[in-house]
This record gives sequence, structure tokens and C-alpha cells, in this order.
Amino acid sequence: MTDTPTARPVSRRGLLTGGALAAGGALAGGAAIATTRTDGAERPDTVGADATPVANVGGLVEPFHGARQAGVATEPQAHASFVALTLRAGVDRTALARMLRLLTDDAVRLTQGKPALADTEAELGLLPARLTVTFGFGPGLYRAAGVDDRRPASVADLPSFRVDRLQPAWSGGDLLVQICADDAITVAHAQRVLIKDSRPFATVRWVQQGFRRGPGVEPGGHTQRNLFGQLDGTANPRPGIGLDTALWVPDGPPWLRDSTTVVIRRISMNMETWDLLGRTDRELAIGRRLDSGAPLTGTAEHDEPDFAATGPDGLTVIPDFSHLTRAHVTDDRLKILRRPYNYDGAPTAQGHADSGLIFTSYQADIARQYLPIQRRLADRDLLNEWTTPIGSAVFAIPPGCRPGGWVGEQVLA
Ligand code: HEM
Repeated sequence: MTDTPTARPVSRRGLLTGGALAAGGALAGGAAIATTRTDGAERPDTVGADATPVANVGGLVEPFHGARQAGVATEPQAHASFVALTLRAGVDRTALARMLRLLTDDAVRLTQGKPALADTEAELGLLPARLTVTFGFGPGLYRAAGVDDRRPASVADLPSFRVDRLQPAWSGGDLLVQICADDAITVAHAQRVLIKDSRPFATVRWVQQGFRRGPGVEPGGHTQRNLFGQLDGTANPRPGIGLDTALWVPDGPPWLRDSTTVVIRRISMNMETWDLLGRTDRELAIGRRLDSGAPLTGTAEHDEPDFAATGPDGLTVIPDFSHLTRAHVTDDRLKILRRPYNYDGAPTAQGHADSGLIFTSYQADIARQYLPIQRRLADRDLLNEWTTPIGSAVFAIPPGCRPGGWVGEQVLA
């Protein structure tokens, strides 16, 4: 990311007029909740409506086996590590099958709260905290295995977009190991085990670690916030409301049925220039309110946006180039599931943030669902002023497996 903040002009009239340079004055008044102590004792006070402690998060288990891999439709856990591997030269279909049997065995044990075989830190395997391990296959894996005819057609390098500033250090990969859990130690241990066991077959290409709000921090059912402070995930398809249609390939040969795909984009968020915007302009850029997440034409988070409504100035209330307008999709078959994680690297010596999103988009078909949205956003989206894609990778998420099976068997067996 750029170290020196540069406030470039934006195209919509009024976007920079509502106190753009007020450096977050409105925010300071609204957002902070002071923890006032009533008794002077050395303990934090609880705030908010629901302060019920969360019991035994560590013991919670997500099933591993099933027709579909876990970690996609799973309620997002608080911590994630996305590990992209490059296959070593000569790793062919047989070697890949050996590797995936091994990694599946690790994943089965660890997700169920058991140490991996020959686990050198066995105690760290005992608290799964909803651990999921999800495997993804990049285009290179199909080539190495000589099964390119089994690659879902849309799992191919993305076209380059005007907004891209992609770095090889965050892009590509033959095999994805996505590790998510509600505990950072659980994720770190699983990552260590899985990378160690992959070493004879592959090298580490990149690792991206991210986080969301932890369990119990807010009462259930809340949309997470990204580091711009926005509720992020409101319009996602949900179970019973379009999720299955958007995600899973419903039929076809065994290597396609119940599979999905993922696009991982590392998107840097320029906190320094975002800081220069007032609250009104921040809300215009996205088309939703910061506090409730409601569209600018509504009052509650899940109100339908009214893109035709105009204000006294004759302009649409939700700007035509707002992120909401440009990204909006109504047809369930064309929606994507966003399951993003925040990242927050070490600030520069000048104190400038290295923050952003590990943006993940899951869909049955990248070309049909993801690409049209991405094209519209790259073409025109007010948010582009403050965000820059710096990494990009695509993977097929093959179907899940039964007990005794291994992930990828339908593709490689
Ligand atoms: C750092 C980058 C990004 C940020 C901060 C961001 C933030 C947001 C926010 C705050 C919303 C509104 C609430 C919601 O429905 O979740 C939203 C909606 C959405 N975003 Fe993004 N977004 C980013 C990148 C992207 C990218 C790269 C895509 C896809 C290519 C995308 C696709 C969508 C879609 C499909 C919606 C829902 C629109 C609707 O139907 O209402 N976003 N985003």
C-alpha cells in the first residue's frame, strides 16, 4: 500500500462536500462506548444488552465429513489462515492422492478435537473451537495431475482489472488449505501440522491470516464489521434464502456435483485517506448507514434499497456509483457468498496502517456470478478511491468425502 495518503478527487457531486476534511469529527461523537466504572474495582464493566459469557467455545466441533466441504456455508469463525501451496516439480496424480489422504487425515482428527498422527504438540489438538479445514484446487493442480478435463471451466486466472495492483507474493497457488476456527492457537496449530505434512509435496506460496469479531463479543446473528467500520455481509445469501443455489453445483459428474469455487482477493484499505472523509461521505460511498447498515433509503439493515428514490437535489439518494448500487444482485443464481476476514499488518514507521480485507467470494460458477460483479466494480465504484486489490487467486473447492475417504478422491482417483 502507499505510505503517503493522497486524497484524490472523487466524481460524485457532494461526496466531498459534507465535511470530507472534517477528519472523522462526527465519528468521535457517535461510535465510542465508554466503559465507565461504577465501583472503582479493577474489572472491566460490561456494555450492551447481552453480556452472557460464552461457555466452552473451545469444545465446539464442526462436522468434517459430508457431501460438501465444511468451511464455506459454515457460520464464519473468528480466525482464519489461508495457505496457498505450490506443488513441487514431479508431483503427479499418484503423489497428489498420497498428499491429500494425509492432509485429510490430519483435518479429520484436528477438526474433531483429536491430535494429528505423530502430533508433536498433542495438547494443542484437543480444543477444535469449530475448526474447519477446507481444500481448494488451483488450475495448476489439475495440470500437474493430468486431469485438466475435470477442472471446473471457470477456475482459471481472472482477467486483469483496471483497479488491480497485484503482487505475486499474494497471488496464485496450486492447492489452498483454508483453516478457520474461533481460536487463534487452534488455527496456528492446524496450520503447522498441515504445512509440515505437505512439505514433501509442496512449498508455501503465501499465507494470509485474518480475523473477525470473536464468539460472544456480540449477541448472535450480527453482521461483522470490517476495518472501515462498515457492516460487511448484510446482503449475503443465507440458509433457506438463496445460499444453496448460489454456492453448490447441483449435478454433473462426481468431481463437480456438490463442489463450489472461491476467489480470494487481498484488498488493501487505505485507512489514511479514508480518515479524511466525514461520516456522510463514508455512507454515500457505500450506500448504507454506518450504525445500522440500513440502505440510505431505509431504516433497518435488511430493508430493500430503493435505487430510484431521489433527494431534493434531484440526485438518487443512493449514489449511482456507490458500492451498493454497483454490486447489487437480485437473482439468487447470480449471487456470491462473501466470507471476508480483516487483516491488520504492522503499521509503517510513520504510523500508517497496513489494513484490509482478505475478500473471499464463493460461488458455483466464477464466470457467471463473480466476474460480472467484479467488472462493474472495477469499472466504477466509489469505494475504489480507498481500496486496492493487491492479491488474487482462484480455486475449485471439490466435493467433501465420507468417513474413510479423502478430499479430492472424485477428482484424482
Ligand atoms: C475492501 C473491499 C470491499 C469492502 C470494504 C466492501 C464492503 C462492502 C459493504 C460495507 C457492503 C454493504 C453491506 C453488505 O451487503 O455486505 C458490501 C456489499 C457488497 N459487496 Fe463489497 N466490499 C469490498 C469489495 C467487494 C468486492 C471485490 C466484491 C465483488 C467483486 C464485492 C461485492 C459485494 C456485493 C455483491 C455486495 C452486496 C450488494 C447487494 O446486493 O446489496 N465487494 N461490500
